[in-house]
Amino acid sequence: MQNDRHPANLALIGFMGTGKTTVGRLVAEALHFDFFDTDELIQSHTGKSITEIFAQDGEPAFRELERQVVHELSSKTKTVISTGGGLPTNPENLALLKSFCLVACLWSAPEKIWERVRNQSHRPLLHDADPQKKIRELLAAREPFYKQADVLVNVDLRNVREVVQQMVVQFKLATRERR
Ligand code: S3P
Repeated sequence: MQNDRHPANLALIGFMGTGKTTVGRLVAEALHFDFFDTDELIQSHTGKSITEIFAQDGEPAFRELERQVVHELSSKTKTVISTGGGLPTNPENLALLKSFCLVACLWSAPEKIWERVRNQSHRPLLHDADPQKKIRELLAAREPFYKQADVLVNVDLRNVREVVQQMVVQFKLATRERR
């Protein structure tokens, strides 16, 4: 991480089903930070589910809501933010996140992602004739964005407790660097 960055927050990015919300809540608890999830904020602002927003307003409208939520969060301190899987593919979002957060990516292989999401129905992008192919394609397209994270943690090699521990350690290390 560059020396001129002073992250007062932690943002979690990564593909759908990598555990960002679960891990984010637990990391926030461990650090005694506030917790926000961008999908939850969008749902509470609009009064609609993510599926309804995609169906009624379209994906571009959803991406604009994501952009607005990142701006809204940019004044926070001592906060952990879990982001929707597509949020960092807008370079403006990723750059803004990096300006006020240490950005950590939860990484998982497509087969493992499929195992975790196959029995869930709340992700409109996976309502596809061939969801496994869709996961592989989306992940390949998004990899260059995810890999711009300050920290990359492979969740396939660790249980949730270990991922949380790793995040806490990485955040403490990153915030100690500037002292
Ligand atoms: C999306 C991921 C979802 C949600 C929306 C779009 C994506 O969030 O924002 O369905 O583009 O990958 P999760 O990553 O929390 O599932």
